[in-house]
Formats: sequence, C-alpha cells, structure tokens
Amino acid sequence: MSDVLRAGIIGLGVGKAHAKGYTTSTDADLVAVCDTNAERLQQFADEWNVPERYNDIAMMLNDAKLDMVSICLPNALHAQYSIAALEAGINVVCEKPMAVNTQEARAMVEAAKRTGKKLMMCYNYRFRSDAQWMRQMITSGQLGTIFHVQVSWRRETGIPGWGLFGSKAASGGGALIDLGVHVIDLALWLMDFPVVQTVSAQTRSLFGPFGRKTWGRVPGQKIEGGFDVDDGAVGFMRLGNGASMAMNITWAEHGQPQEDAYRVEVQGTEGTAVLNVRNYKNDDSLRFYTEMAGQPVTVIPGLRFDGPQGHEALIIDLAKSIRNRTEPGTSGEQGLVAVEILEALYESSEKRREVVFGSR
Ligand SMILES: NC(=O)c1ccc[n+]([C@@H]2O[C@H](COP(=O)([O-])OP(=O)(O)OC[C@H]3O[C@@H](n4cnc5c(N)ncnc54)[C@H](O)[C@@H]3O)[C@@H](O)[C@H]2O)c1
Repeated sequence: MSDVLRAGIIGLGVGKAHAKGYTTSTDADLVAVCDTNAERLQQFADEWNVPERYNDIAMMLNDAKLDMVSICLPNALHAQYSIAALEAGINVVCEKPMAVNTQEARAMVEAAKRTGKKLMMCYNYRFRSDAQWMRQMITSGQLGTIFHVQVSWRRETGIPGWGLFGSKAASGGGALIDLGVHVIDLALWLMDFPVVQTVSAQTRSLFGPFGRKTWGRVPGQKIEGGFDVDDGAVGFMRLGNGASMAMNITWAEHGQPQEDAYRVEVQGTEGTAVLNVRNYKNDDSLRFYTEMAGQPVTVIPGLRFDGPQGHEALIIDLAKSIRNRTEPGTSGEQGLVAVEILEALYESSEKRREVVFGSR
C-alpha cells in the first residue's frame, strides 16, 4: 500500500487520544469520525479538522472508503462493529477490553482471519518508554528467573461517572475488566505471554451502588443507568513459566486522596523491576533492585520520555504496520487471551473457587 491510509474513529470519548496519533502519523490521515452524540461529533470534528462526520456507523463503514478505523465504543459494542468493519475490508484498532466475553472475542479473531485484515488491540500502556525499558530488562535476562509478578491498579475515588461503565450489560464488568485488563496485559507482555494454568479471584461492589467515590460526582449522586458491576477485585494466577501473579484492582478504596496509580512489579532471582505510574505522570516511574558486590542496591533509571507515548505511539505503530505489511505491536489474539482470563476470574469469584484455565 503506497498511499497514506484513510483513517476513521467511531466513539469520540477516548477517541481523542486516537486522533492525536492519527495527526502525528505520517502513514494515516484522519478523514472521518462517527458518534451518535451530535454535539460531541461537531466539537470533535471541528477541533481535529475532520472533513467527514457521521452519526451512523454502517453509513461510515460503507461510504468513507477507510483503510483503518478505531473502535472506541462502549465494551459491549466492540465485537459487533469491529466485525462489521473487518467485513467491510477495513483494518481495526479496537479499544480495551476487546469484548465482553470470549465468544465475541473469538468471533472477532475469526473475522480478521476470514477477511485477511488486521485486528489490533489498544494496549496503549505498552507504548511508554518506561514499560519498554522494563521489557528490555526482562528479555535480556537481567532479572534472572522470574518467580512472581504483583500487579495493581488502585484508585481512591475513581468509579467512572460518565458513559456506561457501571452497566454489566454495556461493559461486561467493572473495575476488573476496565483497569485489570491493562495491568494483566502488561504483565503477560513483559514475560512474553507465558501459558496461564489456573486463576482465582474475588470481586466486590461496595461503593458504586451507593454513589460513593465516583469520579467527578458529589457523594451520594448515583450514576445514571445504575451500577451492577464490581468496583474492586483481588486475584491470583499460576503461570506455565513457573511464576505466579497476584492482582489488586480498585475503582474505589480508602487511601491517599485522589490517588490513581498502576503498578507492575516483576520479581526475579537476580533482580526486581517495578513500574509505578501515579496519576498518569511520566516522572520517577521505575525502580530496579538487585545486588552489586554482594550488597543490595537500588537503581533509579533516568529515563527520558522522548517522542510520542501511549495512544499516540500506538496509533503511529499500527498505521505503519498496515502500510508496511508488518506485524503490529498488539494483536487480536493477545486481546482474546486477556478476555479469556477476565472471564475465568469472574467465574472464579462467582463459584468461589480456583478455575483451571483452558479446561472450562
Ligand atoms: N485504552 C485506554 O486507556 C482507555 C481509556 C478510556 C476508555 N477506554 C475504552 O474506550 C471505550 C470508550 O470509552 P470512553 O471513556 O471513550 O466512553 P464514552 O462514553 O466517553 O464514549 C463513548 C462514545 O461512543 C458513542 N456511541 C455509543 N454508541 C454509539 C453508536 N451506536 N454509534 C456511534 N457512537 C456511539 C457515545 O455517544 C460516546 O460519545 C471503552 O471500551 C473503554 O474501556 C480505553
């Protein structure tokens, strides 16, 4: 493909982060956007100077002659419209989580195979300089044999007060599916996707049903559309590489006011690497603990965040992979693995027992 790709975005909330990537990319131009919210559509298209505006997804997929499209819709709509786009001959970048259940996620992977188009997942946190440094440390063997990974994403007052995040029907779950998917993916990607053997979890819903600790809302102001999902979860996984993974995920908890932090700690026989990102900032996010001359030492990498990061870097990478016919940095298969794990974690919580992965 020699011409610059014609790109579109469906769903204009986090779609803004995708727009930034398309604007920077030299491989794609943002030519069309779609949203049923007329005000959002107009504001967005004006801000990003997008010529074609649609309020109907089918019409956009049919008429806009797109090469790639970002699906930034509520979770329960990811599968339907990703498959529709693939079948219209359009490469897809799908927001996380890929789908609300494994059946839908598998159908998406099959649609990509059937149509020969790319299905790519929006795992933007892989595309940060700190996460990539950590991966390099692990793959080059500096941590030795990995025996445990501790992941968390914890928010003090962080139940989303917008969109349909509180609805199981629209989102498939709450904090675990929304935040857990990112740190589970990061940990698996850092270790090059070891096999998952068993999963165990306990979810809870203690703040959301009472309108407590909702982002941007006064206490007690309930979320429109109700709240029937988890607002916190703990989990444990046994992995085929001999390591274990523990997780603690919260949309709401009593803790440091306004704290919103994700952390991935990888422990190995020769060192422990910690990625700790607080309130979406880049500063001071890495530590490496090891021994030198028989003594414990702490390494504080002086990393520079040069160039695009996160969504912007991800869109640049994915557009390049379509144009150059190379493997993209994220794939639908990796999205499916995460959905399988999330589904098993919810099943474990419901059945109050460990679930053997792959035998369900
Ligand atoms: N990767 C990340 O870090 C990240 C961050 C935020 C959100 N997300 C994901 O992005 C997705 C959207 O989240 P959001 O925060 O932008 O939600 P949002 O509610 O702010 O935006 C969704 C938009 O989709 C539009 N929409 C809904 N149904 C539609 C339809 N049938 N046709 C056209 N437009 C329609 C809505 O009007 C709304 O503007 C979710 O899957 C979420 O998990 C990912």
